[in-house]
Amino acid sequence: MSQSVETAPTRPDQAPLASLRIRRHDGSEVAADPGRWARAYEQVYAEALDLSDHNDPPIEERLQSHAERPGFGLLAALDGDTVAGYVYGYTLQPDTLWWDGLTPSPAAEFVREDGRRTVGVCELLVAAPWRRFHLGATLVSGFLAERTEQRAAALIAETNNVVLGRYSDYGFTRVGTMEPYPGWRPHHMIVRDLTHRPAATT
Ligand SMILES: CC(C)(COP(=O)(O)OP(=O)(O)OC[C@H]1O[C@@H](n2cnc3c(N)ncnc32)[C@H](O)[C@@H]1OP(=O)(O)O)[C@@H](O)C(=O)NCCC(=O)NCCS
Repeated sequence: MSQSVETAPTRPDQAPLASLRIRRHDGSEVAADPGRWARAYEQVYAEALDLSDHNDPPIEERLQSHAERPGFGLLAALDGDTVAGYVYGYTLQPDTLWWDGLTPSPAAEFVREDGRRTVGVCELLVAAPWRRFHLGATLVSGFLAERTEQRAAALIAETNNVVLGRYSDYGFTRVGTMEPYPGWRPHHMIVRDLTHRPAATT
């Protein structure tokens, strides 16, 4: 069941955000209609859909599978029924493959998962008309503020320096490199401690 949690801040110089609503969606809701979120993804990555990163597994299948995982949550910015942006993730379980192949090889304790330790942030996107109004920051801080895990982890394509910079501003630190799925481009693995949360960004 989705839940309205806040209305994005309205400022005179941020007219495109004035009509946005921020809503949480749980796994059952996303699994019931993954196409809605997949379409937004395909618009944002329209120029790069031929890359394995964006089509293997197909995004709708990926969303469906992720939505069924423990601790799944998606925080969306909506303009009416239009998806302006979203961030989603789930809680890593003891048998997760999340850290497999991370280079340099991490200590066993670093990659130990107990089903409560880490939220894997799988996707963050903001559609073009709503970019550069700090909506990405608002989504990430709103999403992480409600998590109970001790840390968050995410993967950023190695060439995506703009997004790496964004996540650095969101408090994440790079811990290594990996190829998340066979055939994908190398990705940076980034991690943020959630036990000492900075004040929410607005
Ligand atoms: C990354 C993304 C979510 C950021 O969304 P956003 O709401 O525009 O981000 P914010 O407003 O919080 O941050 C904007 C800041 O990012 C930087 N930035 C954003 N786009 C930039 C660009 N094309 N070139 C340089 N800097 C850029 C700037 O520092 C900017 O601040 P400024 O506008 O004050 O100069 C959005 O660009 C996006 O969806 N990108 C495509 C999807 C993607 O790559 N997602 C990450 C997958 S891991």
